[in-house]
Amino acid sequence: MLISNSCWVIFTLVFPALAIRQTPDFASDALGLQQIQQHGNATLEKRDDVPAGFTTPPYYPTPKGGWVASWTDSYAKAAEVVANMTLAEKVNLTTGTGLLMGPCSGNTGSALRFGIPNLCLQDSALGVAQTDNNTAFPAGITTGATFNKALMYARGYALGQEARGKGVNIQLGPTIGPIGRKPRGGRNWEGFGADPALQGFGGSETIKGMQASGVIATVKHFIGNEQEMYRMDIPPHGLMKAISSNIDDRTLHELYAWPFMDAIKAGVGAVMTSYNDVNGSANSQNSKLINGILKDEFGFQGLVMTDWLAQIGGVSSALAGLDMAMPGDGSIPLLGLAYWGYDLSTSVLNGTVPLERLNDMVTRIVAAWYQMGQDQDYPLPNFSANTADATGLCYPAALLSPTCVVNEYVNVQADHANVVRNVSREGITLLKNDNTTLPLTTSASLKVFGSDAQNNPDGINACNQRSCDTGVLAMGWGSGTANYPYLDAPIDALKRKAANVTYYSSDTFPSGLTAATGDIAIVFINSDSGENQYTVENNHGDRDGSGLVSWHNGDALVQAAAAKYATVIVVVHTVGPIIVEPWIDLPSVKSVVFAHLPGQEAGDSLTDILFGDYSPSGHLPYSIPVAESDYPSSVGIVGFEVTQVQDTFSEGLYIDYRYLNKNKTSPRYAFGHGLSYTTFSKSSITLTSITPLSSLPPARAAKGSTPVYSSAIPPASEVAWPTGFNIISRYLYPYLDDPASISSSTPFTYPTGYQTTPQPDPPSGGDEGGNPALWDIMYNLTVTVTNTGTVAGKDTVMLFVQYPSDSPYDTPIIQLRDFEKTDTLVPEGSETLTLSVKRRDLSVWDTVLQNWVVPVSESEPFVFWVGNSSANLTLACESLNGACSSGRTPPVV
Ligand code: BGC
Repeated sequence: MLISNSCWVIFTLVFPALAIRQTPDFASDALGLQQIQQHGNATLEKRDDVPAGFTTPPYYPTPKGGWVASWTDSYAKAAEVVANMTLAEKVNLTTGTGLLMGPCSGNTGSALRFGIPNLCLQDSALGVAQTDNNTAFPAGITTGATFNKALMYARGYALGQEARGKGVNIQLGPTIGPIGRKPRGGRNWEGFGADPALQGFGGSETIKGMQASGVIATVKHFIGNEQEMYRMDIPPHGLMKAISSNIDDRTLHELYAWPFMDAIKAGVGAVMTSYNDVNGSANSQNSKLINGILKDEFGFQGLVMTDWLAQIGGVSSALAGLDMAMPGDGSIPLLGLAYWGYDLSTSVLNGTVPLERLNDMVTRIVAAWYQMGQDQDYPLPNFSANTADATGLCYPAALLSPTCVVNEYVNVQADHANVVRNVSREGITLLKNDNTTLPLTTSASLKVFGSDAQNNPDGINACNQRSCDTGVLAMGWGSGTANYPYLDAPIDALKRKAANVTYYSSDTFPSGLTAATGDIAIVFINSDSGENQYTVENNHGDRDGSGLVSWHNGDALVQAAAAKYATVIVVVHTVGPIIVEPWIDLPSVKSVVFAHLPGQEAGDSLTDILFGDYSPSGHLPYSIPVAESDYPSSVGIVGFEVTQVQDTFSEGLYIDYRYLNKNKTSPRYAFGHGLSYTTFSKSSITLTSITPLSSLPPARAAKGSTPVYSSAIPPASEVAWPTGFNIISRYLYPYLDDPASISSSTPFTYPTGYQTTPQPDPPSGGDEGGNPALWDIMYNLTVTVTNTGTVAGKDTVMLFVQYPSDSPYDTPIIQLRDFEKTDTLVPEGSETLTLSVKRRDLSVWDTVLQNWVVPVSESEPFVFWVGNSSANLTLACESLNGACSSGRTPPVV
């Protein structure tokens, strides 16, 4: 029952007539106005099947951008340009030209009079997708496992450099939602880990790096996109609606929106909405989420775009705060039909969409373009996501397209392989290492098992967007991938490094093998997942088929090796947790290494660790439970329902370690667990109060001014076809055949709650990222880390907050709020790290006050736990007296 966008692409390409006949309301309505009217209120439809209590109230109008100090210059430049734009130019920038109607995954129209080209929007979060001569970086989950903010930034910067080099204006990453609520969720690996603070730091450091290169970063997917299956509407809208993620207000703020706040605080230029509904309201036109939370509470100044083909209404989405429709098509692509484009021209001319809303959309887009300096020597796209050939159709979806030079094969790799290797190596997480089995000597007799150690025999890029699990798993599948320029397979690196390596590439243990004394078996296993448009080995994006069990009978392979060899090392490439119980306690399974998804440097980054050139310093970005059933059933994949799949987040704030702690369930390996070849001590811990606690943040300042434009409806002639215009069929234009006939008398039923008077400034807002006081440092904690072992290594310090025991808010027992990693410490070397606790870190979202409240207590302290996993908390400081101590019993098992 899964229908994905790519299925529709194929369907409509092959059977365009059928596609039209199946959806008469869409096809017959050339201007799409009927659709708008029909679905304009879709956000506000009451659907009985969304459980009671999960609401999404209307929030209108859209707060205009431009009032935040750090964007003032860019808005001033944008305002000057937008004031002189025609209606056609404005509409052009808001609407994609259509799927396969340009070189990139998404392409806007242009405003060439002002030097603004068709903007190129291109995946992915781990490299420039669907091109050549690029770098395939480690996935987000690997980056999260480094717990190294500097590396997160370095990877982001290199990603941005490559995007810029290819002429990408808007990079479609980083992914910070899904957060990983569901261990089986298909796209968790694109993000940084199952914790809002880890996602927040991972996302914001990536954004800062990307945007320092001049590319506009896009955080996605806002919000509640925690499972892949049933993520999209099946067109026509209303037949079967996209899954509804039913999330309560507090959970939304403290868990799912938290990293998006960080992203906005970091100055992100674009946000992509997700396919799913939240509380029964489609996210592409959810006024509460876009107008209310993103743009008012969080003070977002950039542009909001849809996910691909997620738009379900024209006026409704415009009023709800959407700024850019991607890839521009209506629900059914490739027909030349749109909700915006020409239809946005109509609805502005007839007064349905206020001109000031369109002006705000365009100003946000142009301001983001200036904010990243794209007016200065920014390259045009020099690649095509549609073909690898040098020349090809300029507009592949057109009935007749001219031919262009589409690929210039620009090499953008620079020295980024070093960044890849550093991140992959530092992400490698050593879970178990009995008898100091690791590191290995290069003279050891190594017997290597499993197809995951080698490259796909059909070619490293043989499967479209990595939609197969053949050979070493170095990224998941779907749009969040990039082509490998090369893939350094583990077996090749092992053979380069060690003298005595024998490889058995089958996933079935070879019969008749005899182990010699001293032989060491290294067994490679994996677990894959990805995006819903591909089904891989019966997994529909999510790991619905495999569960958390290693693929290709990996457990049996480990067990068989363990029966034969006295020393077994298991290397796991995985998108997320797998259950390791079938073999973890077998006596010969001495070492377990999670190498996550390493990208192109899968080989050397691994041997760097296996042979001790570097000590491992990665930490688990999620917990590994003993059994999947240790988590609540609400985080399982939700199955088919006829009209709309309901996914109710009834576990609230309690995902991953927060849930396990609440239920006193010990995991097999805790969130943050990761061993080293050396040992560290922590000493001289201090806690310094920086800002006095108060329960409410200081009042915010009023918003600054925003650009003011003429309110006169522009002349209809501004969207007439230019004389002699060469029309490309199915391309989405802003032009109308007879614009003068548009009258303003068409009645339009606005959504319930629609208003044009601005809402009062929300108390929790005030700047990018919300009330600036939320980012005030309340406490600094310093701790000295000393390498007490015999080899060099890096240590990570994590800070978890425990709320006062008399807090009236039910809150997870501990929550990660900050982390820092040392540089490489030689034996006896030491470094003092500073970790910070900000006001938001001590706050809960009070749903009545609609503000962040610190549960300040006169008698009970906040406790700041310091350790290197959620289950290894060795030091604690108290807020009230500032005292720090070791040896205190942690509050969690
Ligand atoms: C994905 C997005 C991606 C877009 C463009 C969608 O299917 O959900 O993450 O950026 O396609 O490729």
